[in-house]
Amino acid sequence: LQEQQSYRSSFHFQPPKNWLNDPNGPMWYKGVYHLFYQYNPYGALFGDVMIWAHSVSHDLINWIHLNHALCPTEPYDINSCWSGSATTLPGKGPVILYTGIDANHCQVQNMALPKNLSDPLLEEWIKFAQNPIMTPPDGVEGNNFRDPTTAWLSHDGKWSVIIGGWSNNQGMAILYRSEDFVNWTKNQDPLYSTERTGMWECPDFYPVSVNSTDGVDTSVLNEGVKHVMKAGFNSHDYYMIGTYVPEMEKYIPDNDFTGTSMDLRYDHGKFYASKTFFDSVKNRRILWGWVNESDSREDDMEKGWSGLQSIPRHIWLDRSGKQLVQWPIEEISKLHGKKVSLFHKKLDSGSIFEVQGITASQADVEVVFELPELQEAEFLNPTAVDPQLLCTDANASIKGRLGPFGLLTLATKDLTEQTAIFFRIFKGLKGYLVLMCSDPSRFSLVSLTDPNGIEALNIK
Ligand code: FRU
Repeated sequence: LQEQQSYRSSFHFQPPKNWLNDPNGPMWYKGVYHLFYQYNPYGALFGDVMIWAHSVSHDLINWIHLNHALCPTEPYDINSCWSGSATTLPGKGPVILYTGIDANHCQVQNMALPKNLSDPLLEEWIKFAQNPIMTPPDGVEGNNFRDPTTAWLSHDGKWSVIIGGWSNNQGMAILYRSEDFVNWTKNQDPLYSTERTGMWECPDFYPVSVNSTDGVDTSVLNEGVKHVMKAGFNSHDYYMIGTYVPEMEKYIPDNDFTGTSMDLRYDHGKFYASKTFFDSVKNRRILWGWVNESDSREDDMEKGWSGLQSIPRHIWLDRSGKQLVQWPIEEISKLHGKKVSLFHKKLDSGSIFEVQGITASQADVEVVFELPELQEAEFLNPTAVDPQLLCTDANASIKGRLGPFGLLTLATKDLTEQTAIFFRIFKGLKGYLVLMCSDPSRFSLVSLTDPNGIEALNIK
């Protein structure tokens, strides 16, 4: 057991014990960052009674665990308090919308309000007496209606919010509208729907600046923004970039979801049910995600815990307007201890060089590779290949003309366990292309439920 505890992360957010999944309702209020999350208070596996656990921080890095914020108590959430989001009502403070699993095991949307708005820790939450405020509409089954987003103020001064759903063989963002945040009416059509995906879990919908890394509040709507629509299906978080037309209550993506691995993903590792929030302190949008591990149920039970939250990431629109860019928040520097630097290291083909003096399981690495000769690069037509397949077909041990080169991370002394993060350079139609892959197929000798194959991280 002692040995296994060494796999516990000390950088990432984790409760002291038990199962954790989705981040819920991240926000900043009166000088304090809040993170709620799906938590099983009774064990290390996903449970029949899921609750909202609550932690607070001044820097998004060091966290204090508070009492649980929402637990099943009422007929409308007696079987679990599932995922949801926080919205700050101008002049009134934050409100939580969450999915309750009711006495009939049906998914309904509920509201909760802070008991004491002058408490920056928002320690106590009161459930709204008239809950539920939304129940599954016609055509949507009681197990396909969940995970409300942060709401936004639309062009007509009314609130809009989306709920993840599945109806008529379509995954969708079911749209609700309200004048007072209490009485909600379903919009006739979803904000977006598609036959090419399954049920949408934990949707997220937010504006991004067209020409700045700064974030904007969720209700911002002007010429200077595009809108991101994110949804969780097939175990991954996928997103589209596009235009929000409030007058029509429609989302028009630049590229629709295709339901294939060509769709844009936030992350190609274990990362799911993520959620962003606007941090008004530093004018940035921050992304949290659940790092769902691959340990077996037996190992989870033996460890006594499962799951962690990603390091919060600053997220913005790439200059091309075609994809998002993410970077760990700058506060991560607080976690940096000893710095080990190496310069001008020549790496011969086929060689492995060990970076000494670091704790390999907790290292933040910045590396620049300089390649002497790019002419040799093989040709690749990026519109014709799936980077995902390219990473899998040629894993870290298969030699190409320019690559693979990179890092063997989390490696044991004898290299029987290792995670290769590797690159290959190709000649594209217009310039050079970098393929970045990670190969977790050898990351553990322990048998895993879903080692997740080899993943393309990005091709640009
Ligand atoms: C996503 C999810 C959500 C749901 C929650 C329950 O991981 O399945 O759709 O609200 O987890 O914990």
